[in-house]
Amino acid sequence: MKKTLVLTVDSREPNMEKIRLAADFIKKGGLVAFPTETVYGLGADALNLKAVLALFKAKKRPLDNPPIVHVSDALEVHRLVTTVPPEAEELMRKLWPGPLTLIFKRSEIVPDVTVAGLDTIAIRMPRHNVALALIRESGCPIAAPSANLAGKPSPTSAKHVLDDLEGRIDAVLDAGPTSIGVESTVLDLTVDPPQILRPGGTPYETLQRILPRVKLHPIALAERKLDVRKARSPGMMHKHYAPEADLIVVEGQVPAVVNKVKELSDSYRRNGKRVGVLATDETISEYKAFVAKSLGSRSDLATIAKNLFRLLRELDSEDVDIIIAEGIPPKELGLAVMNRLRKASGYNIIKAGEN
Ligand code: TXA
Ligand code: MG
Repeated sequence: MKKTLVLTVDSREPNMEKIRLAADFIKKGGLVAFPTETVYGLGADALNLKAVLALFKAKKRPLDNPPIVHVSDALEVHRLVTTVPPEAEELMRKLWPGPLTLIFKRSEIVPDVTVAGLDTIAIRMPRHNVALALIRESGCPIAAPSANLAGKPSPTSAKHVLDDLEGRIDAVLDAGPTSIGVESTVLDLTVDPPQILRPGGTPYETLQRILPRVKLHPIALAERKLDVRKARSPGMMHKHYAPEADLIVVEGQVPAVVNKVKELSDSYRRNGKRVGVLATDETISEYKAFVAKSLGSRSDLATIAKNLFRLLRELDSEDVDIIIAEGIPPKELGLAVMNRLRKASGYNIIKAGEN
């Protein structure tokens, strides 16, 4: 067990002494968790083999699932990859810094462990002054998966990071809750047409406006577990985002969803189970008998995305046996939310109003 140092900083203008302290850990091969606009990441020097191995170990992450490499300047991409396709240039110019990860063919300077032996690399430039300052001061690209134990919901606050990783990492830069709340969109530019492997903070609709040819990988909104051989992204194969409790997602028109959620909740309760409901502002008053939490208004998908992982963690800490979640429309940030919910449920999806 090591002591994990908590460095509290302002999210816009972080104290540079604390950033330098954090960067010193990274330079020495240590592990530092830091905020991005999506979720907290657990950072290590991406070009230091030992540091990256320690990163996998701290997270208990399988070695076949590579992290995203974070840069503070789009120019740093060139030494990490063999070619930068014109489409990538355009996306980097228009959407970086931001919640968009691009997959490139990787160059020789990247250690094999950093990319889990693949011939590709995932890179993004986060839109967060603390993350950017840390990368700059460290003087290296930073490999950073989400700063949770493998399989847990991603952390949207420093408290979540400490709940999972206290004593396993050197430091956490605490700049308060993250603004987007779901991870970046992962876009593969090594295939034609370009393909979204993980929907996330940059909506599909936004990418389509710039790259009309972009496609959504079938697994991104799968309703059941697909054949892993079809998976292009290693993360697709692993159990993810899962709370401790079992999770059921109920999808369909709102009135039918509400009835189904109530019916399921009643029946679980009759069987002695503690039920948690993930509802929305418009529906929460229907579930007075249960531990119910609202993700936000159905007309504000960004707020729903922001609250998702925090509420999954909160329900877990209230020791519910089963979580029943309302589905929301899979558009804009709702697509990432539904991808995470379906995956977290192990594809335990019920279509309300259909028989
Ligand atoms: O918002 C985010 O992306 C956060 C913050 C910290 O930046 N990071 C994050 O990293 O979510 P992680 O490691 O938890 O998720 C990275 C995803 C995984 O699903 C992984 O399989 C995929 O990106 N990935 C990494 N390298 C890849 C590659 N070369 N080809 C395809 N997928 C890759
Ligand atoms: Mg993750």
